[in-house]
Amino acid sequence: MSLYSAIARPLLFLLPAEAAHECVMKMLTMAAVTFGRSVPAPDGNPVECFGVRFPNAVGLAAGMDKNGAVLPAWPLLGFGFVEVGTVTAHAQPGNPVPRVFRLPRQRALINRMGFNNEGARAVADRLASLRRAGRWPRVPVGINLGKSRVTPLEQAPEDYAYSFRQLREHGDYFAVNVSSPNTPGLRELQAAGHLRDILRALARENPEGKPVLVKIAPDLSGEEIDGIVACGEAEGAAGWIATNTTLDHSAVPPGCDEEGGLSGEPLRQMSTRVLHRVVSVAGKPVIGVGGVSDPESARGKIAAGASLVQLYTGLVYRGPGLPKRLARELLP
Ligand SMILES: Cc1cc2nc3c(=O)[nH]c(=O)nc-3n(C[C@H](O)[C@H](O)[C@H](O)COP(=O)(O)O)c2cc1C
Repeated sequence: MSLYSAIARPLLFLLPAEAAHECVMKMLTMAAVTFGRSVPAPDGNPVECFGVRFPNAVGLAAGMDKNGAVLPAWPLLGFGFVEVGTVTAHAQPGNPVPRVFRLPRQRALINRMGFNNEGARAVADRLASLRRAGRWPRVPVGINLGKSRVTPLEQAPEDYAYSFRQLREHGDYFAVNVSSPNTPGLRELQAAGHLRDILRALARENPEGKPVLVKIAPDLSGEEIDGIVACGEAEGAAGWIATNTTLDHSAVPPGCDEEGGLSGEPLRQMSTRVLHRVVSVAGKPVIGVGGVSDPESARGKIAAGASLVQLYTGLVYRGPGLPKRLARELLP
């Protein structure tokens, strides 16, 4: 049994999920300050993907560090890349708490955070000051963009484009999030017409050709996936992220259910199936995410065709040693 599962996890799990998250973020802030500029690049097997060089294939999924508040700390845990966000054009508080729930037996979470974040301008300012202070991490940084809650679906392209304009100099890649279940109507933006308009709006703001990926939901039929991939690639999407959380709560025991997206081990198979379908029709690289919690599940994503993997819930249940272990075990 690891120190994490013997001591740290039981203590953290005494707190409500979001309070535990805040506590961990504070510890990471202290770690980042202690290590200052000397956080080394992580170990592992380098991967070249959509023109970006990753020191290893294991990334932090979006939602953990929504505002880039502890960006310099993540490579300490061995992550080969970090996805900041979701960031929206307008700062927004998200849904009322409680909005994250643990299902320890299933090693799963349900969340309905609703894109709480400081807004694109404030996040851009923080990222700029990290750069100025020489504290930028030595790993690629992705920035995940979402639609502001107040913005109607028809104005989504301009909303994403505004955030992209604010943040474009800071991201090594961008993820268009059209798959969170917690912003009303957001997943409708996966439909070809909307996705095309969003990708065109970003392309107009993207003279440097930063890679723009699309993050999709697991709750899609094979035909829907094929349509989304065909449209996205025709509009220049540089890759795919499969998947976000699911609305399928069939793995949730009666009495434990909450509204929101389910992540962690019950999502694993479903997201790997979607990943596999995307890989089979896409010409571009795919990041596999959903239920990665040990070397076997990470290898499962790679075997299904993922070029890189990401995780969120696995970190909560398996602890801070997981990314390093995965990066080591993904060595060929
Ligand atoms: C509390 C929580 C917040 C999340 N917030 C975001 C988010 O802001 N943007 C996003 O694209 N995905 C978000 N996700 C989804 C994760 O990035 C990931 O796609 C999903 O949880 C599946 O991976 P996992 O099983 O490793 O957690 C969130 C997940 C959790 C558990």
